[in-house]
Amino acid sequence: MSDEAVFVICRLDEVPNRQARGFLLVRRGEETPWPVLILRWGRHVFAYENKCPHQGTRLDWEANQFIDGSGEFLICGKHGSLFEIDTGCCAEGPCAGRGLTALRVAVEDGEICLLGVDLVDD
Ligand code: FES
Repeated sequence: MSDEAVFVICRLDEVPNRQARGFLLVRRGEETPWPVLILRWGRHVFAYENKCPHQGTRLDWEANQFIDGSGEFLICGKHGSLFEIDTGCCAEGPCAGRGLTALRVAVEDGEICLLGVDLVDD
């Protein structure tokens, strides 16, 4: 049996379809919060660090506002870089050619879990 860390983030139904939710987590041994976003797209769930590769800021200009006006891309609210939903690659904007840091995620028993990261409870 694998001893890989599995950390429950939220219930699947807490993230509406074609929306993302931001979370502030804490990695063991670190004091500063670690912002991540969980994105639900139909039956698929994606997770990325909530950190724009352009200037390192969080993407959401308002809490949980991650999706652009077309409904097809993640967007950085600061300068408008667009990121592909399924890869996190920047398709347009100041950080074109770079991408969001993807995190491993799984859905188990209706709960969204991050895999392989050592997080502090709470
Ligand atoms: S900080 Fe995200 S596009 Fe500039």
